[in-house]
Amino acid sequence: MSNFLDAYSIQNWLESCPQSYLMDTEYGHQLGAKEPSLILENPIVREEAIGTTVQLVVGERAALAASSGLINAAPDHASKRFLATQTLDEARHVEVFTQRLYDLGVKKNELEDTIAQHANPHLGQSAEILLEKVDKGDFVAGVVGQNIVLEGLAFSVFEMMQASNVEANPKFAQALAGTIADERRHVGFGENRIGSLIREHPEKRPEIEQMQKDMAYHMLASFADRFREQGGAMQEARRMSQDAAAESGAVPKSQVWHGTDLASADPAEMGAVLSNTVLKEFKTRLARIGLEYQTPDRP
Ligand SMILES: [Fe+2]
Ligand SMILES: [Fe+2]
Repeated sequence: MSNFLDAYSIQNWLESCPQSYLMDTEYGHQLGAKEPSLILENPIVREEAIGTTVQLVVGERAALAASSGLINAAPDHASKRFLATQTLDEARHVEVFTQRLYDLGVKKNELEDTIAQHANPHLGQSAEILLEKVDKGDFVAGVVGQNIVLEGLAFSVFEMMQASNVEANPKFAQALAGTIADERRHVGFGENRIGSLIREHPEKRPEIEQMQKDMAYHMLASFADRFREQGGAMQEARRMSQDAAAESGAVPKSQVWHGTDLASADPAEMGAVLSNTVLKEFKTRLARIGLEYQTPDRP
């Protein structure tokens, strides 16, 4: 337990996050960094960026509700303290992505309407399944749902977005890189803390596996929706940023992520590499805590 205490202490959090990669940043990026003018000036690209960022705000709001709700359900004080640091991380993620919506030109009084307009319903349904466990004070199911399922997914989504923005949008890529570092801590806590609790409570396995199956269904459905509905706009946005880069004399670079070049893949290929990566990660992480991945019906 002593390694666990050190790795997930508030002291460690201070040293590895606010006093490290968040030093000299504002809203997760370099002071004064701006969204590229291509995004701000082109309505199609801007709308696509707003739609994507809304999904991040919705996911992070769910993570904030879950991690704060789990503090009082935690059976030990080391976990409570870790979840307090995670709560602040999630609140910060909500703030960082909300600020990005403002940077993209969303007015403060239009925020909730913009979120309601773009939020994918499946993402909300997946969050509801998780928050039901949290509201019941079910610590084991809540941590599996939050720190393994929801964050395992977020981790891959952020990585893919980070890889595709590293050249085109360093401001957003840096905010994502910090978020990925946070998520790595959160997923690590889930794997380390929950394995032993599941071994102590084997009777909880069927219910937790059912929750994972239900959450995975809605998550995969939200990817399918997003790449189907937004695929055209995504391609258009990418084509325009590549054109702009070519005009300024930049040599187009491939951005290979899990074997797929994100700079040239079509939306169906992007959706497939994301789903496959998320599934592979789910299986690995669940196996580490002694659970077997349950394949949902095809969305
Ligand atoms: Fe988060
Ligand atoms: Fe997180």
